[in-house]
Amino acid sequence: METLLISTGTRHTSLPDSYVRPEHDRPRPEDISPCKDVPIVDLGCGDRPRIVQEIAAACMHFGFFQVIGHGVPGEAVEGMLGVAASFFELPMEEKMKLYSDDPSRTTRLSTSFNVKKEAVHNWRDYLRLHCHPLEKYVPEWPNNPPSFKEVVSNYCKEVRRLGYKIEELISESLGLDKDTVKDVLGDAQGQHMAVNFYPPCPRPDLTYGLPGHTDPNALTVLLQDSRVPGLQVLKDGKWLAVRPIPGAFVINIGDQLQALSNGKYKSVWHRAVVNGDVSRISVASFLCPENNAMISPPKSLVEAGSGAVYRDFTYAEYYAKFWSRNLDQEHCLELFRNV
Ligand code: OGA
Ligand code: NI
Repeated sequence: METLLISTGTRHTSLPDSYVRPEHDRPRPEDISPCKDVPIVDLGCGDRPRIVQEIAAACMHFGFFQVIGHGVPGEAVEGMLGVAASFFELPMEEKMKLYSDDPSRTTRLSTSFNVKKEAVHNWRDYLRLHCHPLEKYVPEWPNNPPSFKEVVSNYCKEVRRLGYKIEELISESLGLDKDTVKDVLGDAQGQHMAVNFYPPCPRPDLTYGLPGHTDPNALTVLLQDSRVPGLQVLKDGKWLAVRPIPGAFVINIGDQLQALSNGKYKSVWHRAVVNGDVSRISVASFLCPENNAMISPPKSLVEAGSGAVYRDFTYAEYYAKFWSRNLDQEHCLELFRNV
């Protein structure tokens, strides 16, 4: 099988042509907005009305925020980043056992985004795992490094708890009962994880780790290596670099919460740039509606505006549409807009 994995263990000295973006579509560091920061919300501040209000403002204007005081133990976070690094340092033969470019596989190591569909590749390898229910998926997970299963299971449980807490806050911030968002997404929300590895890149000015995209799920909880920036968010037509804060999580609204909120909250374009010196790791946890959940905005949000912005759809329908496309096309939700 042809493999494009780029975490080979040896440093790349040149960028293969298949990774070079056309000139109008390159990172251009000089265009990065220098001053604004995405909002930081302290979930441990004890003032719930304030937290809810801050989340409402962040979701409307940025689609992104960072959380501190979130209650996930530092050891869980450090452990996750540690096994992620060890995994990508494994020998190629070991990693290749998990390689697949078939998006329907529930555990797989892959590269770029959608190797078969895309015109230009991305400077990223990633391990993609399904994480809920754990009993079902952990047996498929990597056996190496030896602590992988235990450390990642523990991290997944912590992130799920945090994600549910944030869904309640988001629900309240939309003027809904705290359980409404969870009720729409279904009792057994899916949880997936992308462990992203971006090796040092010989020409970070010519390519992306991940090109601009929106997340197709409901809510994303991103852990980024606090030493190496890379995540950028589109705000008012300009890319904004998200400054990593040690111990914080980056939270973003996915397409499903944009639809559920009837377009009030935004699933915002974001991307990852790479750098020439060091590798960067990020761990994205995606909370997803149940496959048969009907994504439909609560009545109060429809009546407050001029009707439903998107037609109702099941998550299964949406997800199939998302993976049938290239990553950097129009917003996938546009295909569901009511005309
Ligand atoms: C993702 C993502 C950003 C990053 O995996 O969907 O947006 O910083 N990752 O790696
Ligand atoms: Ni993303």
